[in-house]
Amino acid sequence: MLELPMPKSLWHSDTETPDRRGQIPPDSDVVVVGAGIAGLTTACLLARSGRRVTVLESRQVGAGVTGNTTAKVTAQHGLRYADLGESRAMQYAAAQVRALDWVAQGVAAGRVECGFERRDSYVYTTRPDRRDALAREAEAMQLAGLTGTELLTDVDLPFEVAAAVRLPDQAQFHPQRWLLHLADQVEAAGGQVIEGEVVVGVHERDGILLVETATGSPEASEVRTVSAGHVVIATHYPVLDRALFFTRLSQTRDLVVSGPVDGTAPEGMYLDTDDGYSLRTPPGAGDRLIVGGCQHAPGTKPDQQKLFADLAGWAQDNVGLREVTHRWAAHDLTTPDGVPYVGPYLPTSKNLWVATGFNLWGMTNGTAAGLLLHDLITGEADLEQADLMSPNRVSLEMVPGVVMDQVKVGSHLVGGLARAVSSGDDAADVPEGEGRIRHVGARAVASYRDPDGLLHEVSANCTHLGCVVQFNNAERTWDCPCHGSRFSVNGNVLNGPAIKPLEPFEP
Ligand SMILES: Cc1cc2nc3c(=O)[nH]c(=O)nc-3n(C[C@H](O)[C@H](O)[C@H](O)COP(=O)(O)OP(=O)(O)OC[C@H]3O[C@@H](n4cnc5c(N)ncnc54)[C@H](O)[C@@H]3O)c2cc1C
Ligand code: FES
Repeated sequence: MLELPMPKSLWHSDTETPDRRGQIPPDSDVVVVGAGIAGLTTACLLARSGRRVTVLESRQVGAGVTGNTTAKVTAQHGLRYADLGESRAMQYAAAQVRALDWVAQGVAAGRVECGFERRDSYVYTTRPDRRDALAREAEAMQLAGLTGTELLTDVDLPFEVAAAVRLPDQAQFHPQRWLLHLADQVEAAGGQVIEGEVVVGVHERDGILLVETATGSPEASEVRTVSAGHVVIATHYPVLDRALFFTRLSQTRDLVVSGPVDGTAPEGMYLDTDDGYSLRTPPGAGDRLIVGGCQHAPGTKPDQQKLFADLAGWAQDNVGLREVTHRWAAHDLTTPDGVPYVGPYLPTSKNLWVATGFNLWGMTNGTAAGLLLHDLITGEADLEQADLMSPNRVSLEMVPGVVMDQVKVGSHLVGGLARAVSSGDDAADVPEGEGRIRHVGARAVASYRDPDGLLHEVSANCTHLGCVVQFNNAERTWDCPCHGSRFSVNGNVLNGPAIKPLEPFEP
């Protein structure tokens, strides 16, 4: 079995992210909340169009999903096009191609050293009974205008495939370096990127939006206000969930391992459409691979160490992975119809905007979101694109997701408490480096004992809607199975929709 290092993404390991804490301006034309790919692309474009832009980021540039992605920059998104229908597929493809072109032009114009490399993109199946599904996807991609799409039966992988779809001339890059470039561009165009600012509220007064921000933590005693003509919420899970996004977003968590392989790594970017395994090379490396897989809903598989071991084992057996030098994990948000939500936050919103639900394809979708939001705010938007991605679109595909989410919340509330009762009540039973849910009176307590023997205890009820969190033994976090909120062992929020930390436990 391959040894596993401590979790940290390759992109954070080899790149220094400068500190960007600073003074909050009293007002701004546009406040963008969140410094991931969606927020920084939006901010960069609007700053270049002459808007005074302030980006507020609760942690650091790239601290969210974008710094923990696999960063294939491609218009090929699994088997998406066959499901969209011809007209939506054409619109969707146009948005992805525009996004990829914008990144490629930005890299060339700025000579950005972000490991941007042209690569062919492939989806494949190893199952003969799935050939038809891939043939349908190839046809839908061709009809959508993705030129060069072809159906193959042989690809450069060390195992046999039954069918594959190739889209030539896509790309891969180093996402953290790209984000740092975007942040520099915001500043070069007169904007500001301010880290360590947790946005805790947005209110409207006389057509002006007032953004409330707390330095360091949502519990900070001083909350300051920035007034803005427009506010863009690009926080991955939308903070301030007035539009009840949690009822129409699901979460998929993906694990990643990386390291040297025997021989030469395959050059292309690959995705297995049956089991979700993903392959690409890191920038400039001929004998290394980045391998993703083991998708699941966050908080539902507490033994994350075993999942990482399974993924490393698959990579060792199938693509000759020799050593795991890096491993990491993150989750992304999915929408019922596979198209992101980008546009007005509520049907009535004139100057409050949102970008979320990139369905594990945020490198192009997040860039496309920035391009669309820029066009909406400056009044230049293509209306068909705006309709395609509208957060307020209604479709029948949305309904089962909403119902299932409510069933899920109910079952995790009840099931979580039942598990709490059965997992033992005594704090002394919690081993070092482990977490347990304890039942103390009527309360469920999340108990973690650190490697020095110190016990850290917080309420086990997620501050979003109260589901009982689960211990993640790889990253040592508390993860909520209902809508994917994640918390540190001391209860601090790592991922929304929760905004408030887990409550302290007073025995
Ligand atoms: C393992 C994995 C692999 C993937 N691989 C690919 C791939 O190969 N290609 C691809 O196209 N896509 C891929 N994706 C999807 C892609 O990474 C995401 O869709 C994208 O990064 C999301 O970007 P974002 O800007 O929405 O969110 P984020 O990058 O998470 O940015 C949101 C930011 O908002 C900040 N924030 C949150 N709350 C607040 C607050 N209250 N105040 C201020 N700031 C706040 C966060 O700290 C964060 O920095 C992958 C996803 C995963 C999980
Ligand atoms: S209850 Fe919704 S994320 Fe925890």
